[in-house]
Amino acid sequence: MAHILGIGIATLDIINSVDGYPAEDAKVRAAAQSIRRGGNTANTLTVLARLGHRCALAGALADDPDSRYIRDDLAAHAVGIAPCRVFAGAHTPISYIVHNLRNGSRTIVHYRDLPEYPFEAFQRIDLSHYDWCHFEGRNVEETAKMLRHAKAHGELPCSLEVEKPRDGIERLFEHADLILFGREYALTRADTPQAFLRGMRSELPGIDLVCAWGEQGAWGMDRDGLDLHAPAWPPPMVVDTLGAGDTFNAGVIDARLRGEPLAAVLAHACRLAGEKCGVEGLRLPSLADNRT
Ligand code: ADP
Ligand code: FRU
Repeated sequence: MAHILGIGIATLDIINSVDGYPAEDAKVRAAAQSIRRGGNTANTLTVLARLGHRCALAGALADDPDSRYIRDDLAAHAVGIAPCRVFAGAHTPISYIVHNLRNGSRTIVHYRDLPEYPFEAFQRIDLSHYDWCHFEGRNVEETAKMLRHAKAHGELPCSLEVEKPRDGIERLFEHADLILFGREYALTRADTPQAFLRGMRSELPGIDLVCAWGEQGAWGMDRDGLDLHAPAWPPPMVVDTLGAGDTFNAGVIDARLRGEPLAAVLAHACRLAGEKCGVEGLRLPSLADNRT
């Protein structure tokens, strides 16, 4: 069991499940609607907590009724929120999600006007309580300061999620020990995950690089430049892919913390993420305590 600090977002997800993705300007009726606590880092920490780790979120929270839902859900999953910064009078970020029942796809429209988590709040956290820091690649200016601050703190390993391109995000890379790239970011620089990782390796020697690629699984490149691939783990039926990447990231961090080599790390993460795709929400059958 490790103590893990996640720096990133928590959201309210409003999910409309529809029988086939609607055409533009169509009017369709949802077959079901559900509300969940979401957010990349909040999701990743929830899965890590299920895997037996002690987790805390460092992120921005509003003080509106929707934020109560988020706090209650994180508390129910034993994810601490003491390092969070609460913004009075602000609104909880909401994702409006179209979930296609035919193939499990999730189309996300995210709205937020909540301020980002500031370095000044991060600076107050006693990092000596943690074994691992996981950062969401956003809020570049402040996150760069946080990463530098964390790295100045002895041997604290830091992972960085780079889901999509953002202005100046590359400035964060050199401070991480492990980078988790998403397909959307990789495709801005290469056509294939292998070519992408080869290119990144020449720019970033000495950092573990991972790139998830949906139903094709994930690729990785270890510090010796060894090219690795793990196929996706196919669930009996793809039901819901919302949070697959966040679950994958949890699997990577969990296996890394256990000292697994990168090939085993990828296999473990694909297994967990595949399992997630087979169920709604983050109720992974293989994890003993199923509360979401
Ligand atoms: P996201 O879009 O949620 O960030 P990805 O689509 O990159 O995530 O997928 C992350 C991981 O989830 C993949 O590496 C794979 O292991 C798993 N995964 C995604 N889609 C599927 C699928 N259809 N079947 C099985 N596993 C999947
Ligand atoms: C899934 C997710 C959702 C959230 C959105 C934020 O990866 O974290 O839970 O609404 O992405 O970008």
